[in-house]
Amino acid sequence: MLKETRKTDPEVAALVDEELDRQEHNIEMIASESTAPLPVMELSGSVFTNKTLEGYPGARFQAGSHVADKLENLACERAKALFGADCANIQSYSGSTANYSIYASILEPGDKILSMRLDQGGHLTHGSPANWVSKIYNFEFYSIDKETELIDYDGMEAKAKEFQPKLIIAGASSYSRLIDYERISKIAKEVGAYFMVDMAHIAGLVAAGVIPSPIPYADFVSSSTTKTFCGARSGMVFCKKEHEKLLKKGTFPGALGSMHLNTMAAKCWSFKYAASDEFKAIMKQVVANAKCLAQELTNYGFRIVSGGTDNHLLVADLRNKKITGKTFQNALDAVGITVNKNMVPFDPEKPGVTSGVRIGLTAVTQRGLKEPEIKEIAAIMNQVANAPEDEANLAACKAKAEALIAKFPLYPAGLSVIKQTSKFHR
Ligand SMILES: Cc1ncc(COP(=O)(O)O)c(C=O)c1O
Repeated sequence: MLKETRKTDPEVAALVDEELDRQEHNIEMIASESTAPLPVMELSGSVFTNKTLEGYPGARFQAGSHVADKLENLACERAKALFGADCANIQSYSGSTANYSIYASILEPGDKILSMRLDQGGHLTHGSPANWVSKIYNFEFYSIDKETELIDYDGMEAKAKEFQPKLIIAGASSYSRLIDYERISKIAKEVGAYFMVDMAHIAGLVAAGVIPSPIPYADFVSSSTTKTFCGARSGMVFCKKEHEKLLKKGTFPGALGSMHLNTMAAKCWSFKYAASDEFKAIMKQVVANAKCLAQELTNYGFRIVSGGTDNHLLVADLRNKKITGKTFQNALDAVGITVNKNMVPFDPEKPGVTSGVRIGLTAVTQRGLKEPEIKEIAAIMNQVANAPEDEANLAACKAKAEALIAKFPLYPAGLSVIKQTSKFHR
């Protein structure tokens, strides 16, 4: 790997080596991250990248499509079978563009959308003032309940009746609990709205059957194919049969241009892999590890938002520990544990500071960490939180974190070529 790059551009090859080294020696706990299996890396760099193609199998704008047609058909069939969906459109380039293609399929400028408050877990593409969608559509937001820190479904229903949205969106970037899709689909039906679920974060857990699927309840389901799905840096959309034509048109030419056939090939591989016992076991362990970390941190006096987790992530409220999200993120980074600062519900701190951190368990679980190691990580986190500016404390924590992760290679059986030639490899 990187053979040609090493010869022609050692500078960029060195950056890849350096990033590999960073990932290898860090405990990566960003909730949206995972490790792409080697076939995903191979296929993402395959000759399919050379082919420009627009349209759909049987109705292409360019010639030379017969092989790509077979690929897209195979990938769609695998995706539908994996998720039990009527229709799959896998032309999206990412989770964000997957959302844009749904909007392009069913909405007109000025249409109303009801989505989750962004500071309580919603995503930029669900109506952030900083995202272009807020200039085109009219957004209103539902909240979580202050006491339980779960979605306030009664409040959502009241808002939906008052606001009369054309679309209701469920799905979040930092919500650690199961979502009651059945309840939201009833609310959507009552007000005559489409119901869309953005399962970007949880698609791997859904594919593995570890948590309930939104597919039976939603008109449209969008997703990234990274995050818990552990695949290519890309996206996908599912819909009910009656919306298939709308989604096709909304995706191309509505929202996208030519397909990224290289990542489509990688997604095709992932749709097969995600049905394997190996993947299902990893996803089961991801949730077990997340529950374990939530419990351990609670034992150390951290407050976990909503009291725990049902999925791959948790949000720790640090106010008991008298530190901010920013300070904790930076101190953990210094010891080789990567998390991100995150607003807690009704957070008094600014978004750049925050009272919490979001912690994800997917990448470490892929490396083989189980409950005993998760307990060690919780102990290190607690030690860091107790003295985040004490250099000696951070050095001691760093030594513990490095020793722990060294036992679990990022790519146990692979990437030896990169490793052998990396000057950074220790
Ligand atoms: C809920 C949700 N939707 C969509 C996205 C965007 O996905 P992508 O980064 O693949 O565009 C994210 C990214 O974190 C997300 O959390």
